[in-house]
Amino acid sequence: MKVTIVGAGNVGATCADVMAYRGIASEIVVLDIKEGFAEGKAMDISQCTSNTGFNTRVTGVTNDYSKTANSDVVVITSGIPRKPGMTREELIGINAGIVKGVAENLLKHSPDAIMVVVSNPMDTMTYLALKSTGLPKNRIIGMGGALDSSRFKYYLAKALDKPINDISAMVIGGHGDTTMIPLTRLASYNGIPVSEFLSEDALAKVAADTMVGGATLTGLLGTSAWYAPGASVAYLVDSILNDQKKMIACSVFLEGEYGFNDICIGVPCIIGKNGVEEILNINLNDTEKAALAKSADAVRAMNADLKSVLG
Ligand code: NAI
Ligand code: 2OP
Repeated sequence: MKVTIVGAGNVGATCADVMAYRGIASEIVVLDIKEGFAEGKAMDISQCTSNTGFNTRVTGVTNDYSKTANSDVVVITSGIPRKPGMTREELIGINAGIVKGVAENLLKHSPDAIMVVVSNPMDTMTYLALKSTGLPKNRIIGMGGALDSSRFKYYLAKALDKPINDISAMVIGGHGDTTMIPLTRLASYNGIPVSEFLSEDALAKVAADTMVGGATLTGLLGTSAWYAPGASVAYLVDSILNDQKKMIACSVFLEGEYGFNDICIGVPCIIGKNGVEEILNINLNDTEKAALAKSADAVRAMNADLKSVLG
């Protein structure tokens, strides 16, 4: 199975590293526009092989899309990352042009690939990729919910002082500080609602910390995070390539689900070899429904900025 990752920066290279190490794909091509950069990252990752024991072939190329041909999955991480004080939304102008061009180039060489969009603002970039390529909606998946859910589980585990892997929890909605919706009501500690163990105030703090999880790291690191984002992409790609049919919150095109149309936003999905195999229409309470409607309004406002790019 072959995966191409466009963007050999922090997120793209970490994703390649995790995928190679875990043997998720047999072949990984990393492509970047910066001369020699992807080649360097691929060489460095490949030189781990004798000490870590993986067999994945990792190749780096400078803007040569012919080397990406016949990929099963293509991942777009190219773009500029958020700087401290910068919102994801401010990234839109620059990243829209990059994502559109990259998506078109990828499909010329891998017309049957499933496309995973990571570049921010991710929900809007996913919508742009879908509209500009005309791919069927099951083949365009925005990655944000997997990352936000992992941060939610991290903060829940901290508040409970229990292992993260005993926590089950999901974040839906837009991938933005004010648009994501940690589903606190449905989160559990080994099947028991977390509200059995945490006060309303403690849960509200967990939700608030989750929502600014990316911004907190940007403040600490001086650029946006990459370890958890890269691992989250690898988790999603694994479910596609190995047809795991995992339930993952992904930004997908809605046609009536949750009462929305013509928008890509995070909802629970079954992810397998056909990409988005099912969108789960779970019952939300009135507060959650209102939050999702507000989130969709914010994503739509950003999508409106695409007019000049989509024509
Ligand atoms: P980075 O700056 O480390 O890497 C981006 C790479 O894209 C650079 O190496 C750059 O040369 C390359 N690039 C730019 N234009 C290109 C083009 N036209 N063709 C090929 N390569 C091109 O940035 P980082 O930290 O890897 O973040 C990448 C993107 O992912 C950003 O937009 C960031 O906001 C987003 N992100 C999204 C997350 C999510 O959950 N959806 C999580 C973390 C980051
Ligand atoms: C993150 O959530 C900025 O989207 C990036 O870390």
